[in-house]
Amino acid sequence: MEHIKPHSLGQNRRCPGCWKMLTVAMCMALVACLQAQELQGHVSVILLGATGDLAKKYLWQGLFQLYLDEVGKGYSFSFHGAALTSTKQGQEFITKVLESLSCPEDMVPRRCAELRGQFQQLSQYRRLRTNEDYMALSKDIEAQLEHKGLREAGRVFYFSVPPFAYAGIARSINSSCRPGPGAWLRVVLEKPFGHDHLSAQQLATELGSFFQEEEMYRVDHYLGKQAVAQILPFRDQNRQALDGLWNRHHVERVEIIMKETVDAGGRTSFYEEYGVIRDVLQNHLTEVLTLVAMELPYNVSSSEAVLQHKLQAFRALRGLQKGSAVLGQYQAYGEQVRREQQKPDSFHSLTPTFAGILVHVDNLRWEGVPFFLMSGKAMDERVGYVRILFRNQAYCAQNEKRWVADQSQCLPRQIVFYIGHGELGSPAVLVSRNLFRPSLPSESWKEVEGRPGLHLFGRPLSDYYAYSPVREQDAYSVLMSHIFHGRKDSFITTENLLASWVFWTPLLDSLAHEVPRLYPGGAESGHLLDFEFSGTQLRFSRQQLEQLVPGPGSAPKPSDFQVLRAKYRESPLISAWPEELIAKLADDIEATAVRAVRRFGEFHLALSGGSSPVPLLQQLATRHYGFPWAHTHLWLVDERCVPLRDPESNFQGLQAHLLQHVRVPHYNVHPMPVHLHQRLCAEEDRGAQMYASEISALVTNSSFDLVLLGMGTDGHTASLFPQSPAGLEGTQPVVLTRSPSKPHQRMSLSLPLINRARKVAVLVMGRLKREITMLVSRVGHEPKKWPISGVLPSSGQLVWYMDYEAFLG
Ligand code: BG6
Repeated sequence: MEHIKPHSLGQNRRCPGCWKMLTVAMCMALVACLQAQELQGHVSVILLGATGDLAKKYLWQGLFQLYLDEVGKGYSFSFHGAALTSTKQGQEFITKVLESLSCPEDMVPRRCAELRGQFQQLSQYRRLRTNEDYMALSKDIEAQLEHKGLREAGRVFYFSVPPFAYAGIARSINSSCRPGPGAWLRVVLEKPFGHDHLSAQQLATELGSFFQEEEMYRVDHYLGKQAVAQILPFRDQNRQALDGLWNRHHVERVEIIMKETVDAGGRTSFYEEYGVIRDVLQNHLTEVLTLVAMELPYNVSSSEAVLQHKLQAFRALRGLQKGSAVLGQYQAYGEQVRREQQKPDSFHSLTPTFAGILVHVDNLRWEGVPFFLMSGKAMDERVGYVRILFRNQAYCAQNEKRWVADQSQCLPRQIVFYIGHGELGSPAVLVSRNLFRPSLPSESWKEVEGRPGLHLFGRPLSDYYAYSPVREQDAYSVLMSHIFHGRKDSFITTENLLASWVFWTPLLDSLAHEVPRLYPGGAESGHLLDFEFSGTQLRFSRQQLEQLVPGPGSAPKPSDFQVLRAKYRESPLISAWPEELIAKLADDIEATAVRAVRRFGEFHLALSGGSSPVPLLQQLATRHYGFPWAHTHLWLVDERCVPLRDPESNFQGLQAHLLQHVRVPHYNVHPMPVHLHQRLCAEEDRGAQMYASEISALVTNSSFDLVLLGMGTDGHTASLFPQSPAGLEGTQPVVLTRSPSKPHQRMSLSLPLINRARKVAVLVMGRLKREITMLVSRVGHEPKKWPISGVLPSSGQLVWYMDYEAFLG
């Protein structure tokens, strides 16, 4: 058959059959199109909050893009902009927004205008306030379908409204505006999804009573950013090259960064309640973190597999401590809050506008690799990226000048998912040339053209294989398309959301009263916000010379005071500020350990649980390089009757803060046997007797080299509690006891066993201990009332370590 060339169309005299053939073909295409339309059906999109900021900036454009992508592919559409605003005002607003919609650069203006006109025709404003309004909407949609003889494919409700409005709207949709049988419902939700774990759970439960999980699409617009959306496909398509590299042996660190130049002015009522961690880290940066850290599913396009692997990554995240974070606040913020919220001059906000967080992933792949998450307002530049920096294990014999980007192993090796903005100005994927040539889908990613002079992450752009999207797309447009096609892997499921809040909530609680460091903002901040880590702690690299506005944080520094030596209950007392006290105790423990190993070849250390010893364990784990761990036996002073992997378990604390950082041979680690025969602390299982036998078999004379104790506010020590005789005297070295607080059941070394130790150190910290410290200083030997008063080693030494707050108040 002869091909019909465009210029021959008008020349039907030379090809008499052509015109007829063309007409037939066009008719067939039209019929096919109508049939397809019939087949696929009609979609109604209802944008709630259609006159708001987000809608104006992104959502209408996203809907228009959806229309451009889908027009002629078998669906028909109607778009309903809805809000509480009056019909007249709403319609005026929408008319203006629709006029400003833009088309992709490569579309000819005439076609663009034509399609925009169609889109405008299909878009209408309506006021949605009451349940009756929703009913009326549903009726109108049904009438329209009937009138045009269309089948309903589905309804999308996009919630661009504040969360307090969610429940009411959800109820109305569920009761009065669901589509008919066979058609789908998709509700799209915008953050914030709660303020902490509890509120997120409440909101999720509430929404769950109106919608099925598969009907809900929680937006994290970072998942629609092209570079972020490329992380999993990139890992998948480059499996072979990455297989050996994507792990702790090769990755030195991962940086997940989102810096903004804008500040929070104009939105302080929202920002005051949320702050940077809730606004950006809990969602955007955490999502990116899981995409980098998760095990790669076999099928990366399976939403379910991606979700399961993400949840697994969440489970591997090590809990965050106060010391995992550094916080800042740009200087003008306080004034903005006072002004916008009519607060008095005396009001000082503690809301952070900058945060750096150190995250560790405790699994075989990532153990020991620091993940830095950082975001801030009023920074020196706007940029977002994920940078995976690889270790350099090579030595290059030739002079540096002869190092060639794709050959030298001595040049930095990194993979960067450049989310956008910054020097490059567009999303990109960068791979150092000395790593491998990556494979990216050529229909959507193209090589970046050379830009002489441009340096990124310390290297010229030419040092990277660099790719950028063929067609740059706004995140909301990408997500609109995914909603339309039911691609749930770009959205946050309830489980995913709650897992993230479980991770962040304890840190947020512990930081609630922290004073953020003030920074001037922009380039003027200089190095004030630089931070560094050591072990599990993060801190600002520079001491702040002066607090720009003095806050409650400007307390005297530890070094302003000397360690105080005195007596307490006739025994030596060492008192200092917490940091110095912990450093002194850690030094003393190391010295005792070194002496014991020199004399006896081993060191037996019994440790208490709880929060006071945590900084001590961290100090020992990160600063004591000479500690003879290989010859140290670790015992527990007491244990809660919970499984060892339970976060409440004292052993778990030891594991998290010490054991995973130092090399103690596993046969030298002696957890208390609280969990035997799949039950906890049953007398019949004789766990206490087993532990006593183990001690007597391994520790000469059952005399520990050092026992570390704490003192409770009720005078308890170890798990020996007032008014409970177990373990205060008698011959049983290890006993089961009951605590007044949960978990009630405990196992503990007895007083007689503790008092056999060569040395006992009692660590007491914090203002809450002030009263008991005073009281115990005056009482005699009354272990039944105050078990701590029964601690008196028969031939060993007792030393009290108290911080100033516990000792002086
Ligand atoms: C939003 C935050 O989720 O993300 C804003 O609420 C922030 O505070 C914004 O400015 C940043 O998004 P983007 O796409 O500009 O990087």
